[in-house]
Amino acid sequence: MSEEKVLVGVIGGSGLYHLDNLTFIKEVNPETPWGFPSSPITIASLPSGARVAFLARHGRGHSVSPSTVPNRANIAALKSLGVRAVLAFTAVGSLREEIAPGDFALPSQALDRTKGVRAASFFEGTSVVAHTAFGDPFSPKLSAWVEPRLRAALEGRAKLHTETCVVCIEGPQFSTRAESVLYRTWGGDLINMSAIPESKLAREAEISYALIATATDYDSWRPEAAAVTAHDVFQTLKQNADTSRHVAAALLDDLQAAVAAEDANVFLEHVGSMKFSIMP
Ligand code: ADE
Repeated sequence: MSEEKVLVGVIGGSGLYHLDNLTFIKEVNPETPWGFPSSPITIASLPSGARVAFLARHGRGHSVSPSTVPNRANIAALKSLGVRAVLAFTAVGSLREEIAPGDFALPSQALDRTKGVRAASFFEGTSVVAHTAFGDPFSPKLSAWVEPRLRAALEGRAKLHTETCVVCIEGPQFSTRAESVLYRTWGGDLINMSAIPESKLAREAEISYALIATATDYDSWRPEAAAVTAHDVFQTLKQNADTSRHVAAALLDDLQAAVAAEDANVFLEHVGSMKFSIMP
């Protein structure tokens, strides 16, 4: 088996535990200095023959809760395989009437409401003080590359919302009604429990990272409606996962080709950026 690098990674969120239309090559479970990833990583080949790495963020049977996802091991494991660009799928609640369950979104901003219990930096516990630039939490060039292709892939299947802001809460409980209303006033459009620190760690690893969000519910801000339950989320997960698999199939070959051609818009965006993050 050749040790050919795998340039593109896909992280699957709730409901998305495998991809379709790929030829299985092997499974790997690299041990990193931060432990093992959430699940073994599937290496598969695309129709072009190029390779992609798929990692189920919550484990294949959804056994890993958002607060205990080994984010550092996940990103380090993908990096060790050669991954340069990640498409990360995640289920989200909607904080906006116009974003309905079943819709897709490509967030450009984030509000971090995780409570500091998650290890959020590769530099924690080291003598290196690093302040990584994170003003644009999702890679703007990769996201711009994804947008038209995602829109085309969703044609006739689901609506796409861009320029959205995702609020990442610690969980595992959903938000109170008051919090849900507050996040809307802060400019939040979507809410989830997984966008951070995964995206922060991808940035520290200089990996391009785009988040593809799939709305499952209206959270708890609508005064007349019942507050969200896990049951509501599960109702929409399966269909969203089917659409996500279709989207991934549509994007991946193209993305792999762009990365292999060293298209700076797709994966060079953050390469070298960390040298500006370390305190001398
Ligand atoms: N994931 C899906 N829906 C959610 C919600 N309403 N709040 C937090 N995470 C979610």
